[in-house]
Amino acid sequence: MKRIAILGSTGSIGVSTLSIVESFPTRYSVASLAAGRNVTAAEEQCLRWRPRMVSMSEEALADELRARLKQQGINDIEVVWGTAGTVAVATLPEVDFVVSAIVGVAGLEATYAAVLAGKTIGLANKECLVAAGEIITAAAKEKNVALLPIDSEHNAVHQCMRGGTAAEVKQIWLTASGGPFRNLPAADFESITVAQALKHPTWVMGRRITIDSATMMNKGFEVIEACRLFHLPAEKVRVTVHPQSTIHSLVEFVDGSILAQLSVTDMRLPILYALSYPERVESDLTFDMATLGQLDFSAPDLAKFPCLRLAYEAARAGGSHCIALNAADEVAVSAFLEGVLSFPGIARTIESVLARTPVQHPATIAAVLEADSAARNLAREVLLQAGVSVSSVRL
Ligand SMILES: NC(=O)c1ccc[n+]([C@@H]2O[C@H](COP(=O)([O-])OP(=O)(O)OC[C@H]3O[C@@H](n4cnc5c(N)ncnc54)[C@H](OP(=O)(O)O)[C@@H]3O)[C@@H](O)[C@H]2O)c1
Repeated sequence: MKRIAILGSTGSIGVSTLSIVESFPTRYSVASLAAGRNVTAAEEQCLRWRPRMVSMSEEALADELRARLKQQGINDIEVVWGTAGTVAVATLPEVDFVVSAIVGVAGLEATYAAVLAGKTIGLANKECLVAAGEIITAAAKEKNVALLPIDSEHNAVHQCMRGGTAAEVKQIWLTASGGPFRNLPAADFESITVAQALKHPTWVMGRRITIDSATMMNKGFEVIEACRLFHLPAEKVRVTVHPQSTIHSLVEFVDGSILAQLSVTDMRLPILYALSYPERVESDLTFDMATLGQLDFSAPDLAKFPCLRLAYEAARAGGSHCIALNAADEVAVSAFLEGVLSFPGIARTIESVLARTPVQHPATIAAVLEADSAARNLAREVLLQAGVSVSSVRL
């Protein structure tokens, strides 16, 4: 029985993870949960899963959850909060496996603490590896901890890598759906609305990652994540636009063979793969090959999607540029979602922040968080200088 901590249990990945635990009750159990602000969902999850510990992002929310659980007659679930709370959830002694699925850098310290505590990690949160990939992968190597990717593309690469050695890999190909604006003329990008950007053609996900998919920044983050996870330089991590999202990624080996992973577009499959690795478990997540029609591939348009170009540049610079890329994107996406920044304004904001960020290589998580905070302040200044009202924007 694997005992699981889920960081981000109330989100899209968290809920999919719980659905896998529900389907395999003899293999997996829930030890602890960390949520953000959704007290109602956290309460429901506590009632259903009876974890030993649950964390909320703020003290007042933890107090509310504790009171609600007491009303239900439940006193044996420890309710904690904030960064210390997520760290406690992730490092609980009985936890074998941590699913890291908090959105943004909010999940960074707990994920790092879990690595240091020797827990196996199922990594969905890509921002951790974008901002602190060098530090986390070095700690994982030192502690002999497996970082098992849940992000579908890296999960596909992980599966294909089993077909050869690391030295035999020529390059990898991450597939991208191209998002909802793949065929929209560049001239129409200024008038893209929040509702249009939130409609992803193939995946149902959280709000930030959905906007990141529309700008293709999500693919850019995945390039950096792949560089860190598979120890590859940016030029060996290629992107191909594949609108059907049927092939989740490919690995090209030195002899010319290319291995691809195909499956349903359902995050429960990469979650199950990571949870059960190195085994494979029988599931009903089948893909009907008989219905497979056309598979299209094309090169990404870096002029229409400058976020992807910026991510490649940051991947090459590393350190503070990757941190600033993520931080500025988080602020700019929040401004877009609040309706105060245009869709192309997201890339313009990030580019301005990067241009004003010196290249440095923070060596500790504290230094990463400092650089993250500096980049957020810079993004705020850039927005203010562009005449954007930032009062409602999450910084
Ligand atoms: N969804 C996908 O298909 C997918 C695929 C690949 C990778 N990912 C990555 O997985 C991560 C999660 O994505 P998602 O789509 O599941 O996002 P989501 O639906 O927005 O969920 C985010 C989760 O993080 C929690 N959270 C936010 N701020 C927090 C804080 N300060 N402290 C503790 N918890 C906090 C949220 O809690 P509340 O809801 O309670 O506020 C929620 O549980 C992201 O890094 C994303 O890039 C997602």
